[in-house]
Amino acid sequence: MALRGFGTTIFAEMSALAIDTGSVNLGQGFPDTDGPTAMVERAVEGLRNGENQYPPGRGVPELRHAIASHRLDHYGLRYDADNEILVTVGATEGISATVLGLCDPGDEVVVFEPYYDSYAATIALAGATRVPVSLRPDSTGRFGFDVEELRASVTSRTRLVLLNSPHNPTGTVLTRAELEAVAEVCIAHDLIVVTDEVYEHLTYDGCEHIPIATLPGMRERCVAISSAGKSFSVTGWKIGWVCAPAPLLQAVNTVKQFLTYTHSPAMQHAVAYALSNEMAWVADLRSSLQERRDQLAAGLESVGLRVTRPQGTYFIQADVRPLGTADGARFCRELPHQAGVVGIPTSVFCDSPDVGGPFVRFAFCKRPEVIDEAVQRLARFAATVAPSS
Ligand SMILES: Cc1ncc(COP(=O)(O)O)c(C=O)c1O
Repeated sequence: MALRGFGTTIFAEMSALAIDTGSVNLGQGFPDTDGPTAMVERAVEGLRNGENQYPPGRGVPELRHAIASHRLDHYGLRYDADNEILVTVGATEGISATVLGLCDPGDEVVVFEPYYDSYAATIALAGATRVPVSLRPDSTGRFGFDVEELRASVTSRTRLVLLNSPHNPTGTVLTRAELEAVAEVCIAHDLIVVTDEVYEHLTYDGCEHIPIATLPGMRERCVAISSAGKSFSVTGWKIGWVCAPAPLLQAVNTVKQFLTYTHSPAMQHAVAYALSNEMAWVADLRSSLQERRDQLAAGLESVGLRVTRPQGTYFIQADVRPLGTADGARFCRELPHQAGVVGIPTSVFCDSPDVGGPFVRFAFCKRPEVIDEAVQRLARFAATVAPSS
């Protein structure tokens, strides 16, 4: 069994614990408000008007064309809607179909740890091996990688580099210089880069996401994956997409057609509508998330935790050592009982025991009053804990 040992995901475990203990759930990364009203109305209209049967396997043409325009308008990247774009059941299916479609058993996949949990499972399903490169905090608290470690991670078996920026769970948005270092390694070793860009629009303080496909020599070796769930706050809709040169996309689609074949046409039309008409809504989401990031960061600091404001995503990393422990996993398992708040230990996203240890991931994609309630509960709890430093 390829997934022996994977068990229940940490999100299912911690969300169940949140319900059992009546905790404020800052664990799983989903917004607690809806996406653009007109987009939701477009889906309802579609459901009422016969958009209920299998659409084309690659996705409805309207959505593929809207994705092509979005990629061109935002990044200057040109993709052919018929041969280079595939609509998937969330980014998750896009990632799985890509890894399964492009890896042979025994291949190696370089991943940056901490990594999104589906990467490890999907690499295992493909019979491939993950090779982690660590993201570690610098003196400012921003997580980054060591280029030498990246270079050393490549062997004759390396097939893919699986990149995620803006990065879950650290909130790092890779700089042009960092992306150039990744590109140089990929070109030198003729590797394909799979780039998970689900938080492409959720960046803060003027920091912009740069798709690695825009770097010289990279478009032809890049499989880029996005998610309407994150951009439009509809994580339950599970609409994602893959943009890649035709031969790579063909390999991805070969797998995708046997995983799910296709997905709700009404939602696909609604996302096509949103990509063409609701980017101003996304800009508002971005500023509102930045405010909530600052609200949660200030709240966590006020209870004694050490935090760095992330450049993107839904998540803040908190170093729990000031509250007297270096064991983030234990801290998270006890916190719902002791404080009534759920976070996710960063160590569960890592292979190396020394990478995530004292860090906890808290989500700030929640309403301000929910964040306030979590902070008040944490403050009551912190008052009972003797500070260690
Ligand atoms: C980095 C990353 N990739 C992929 C996904 C999954 O996206 P989707 O819900 O579109 O499958 C998530 C969801 O949290 C994520 O954080």
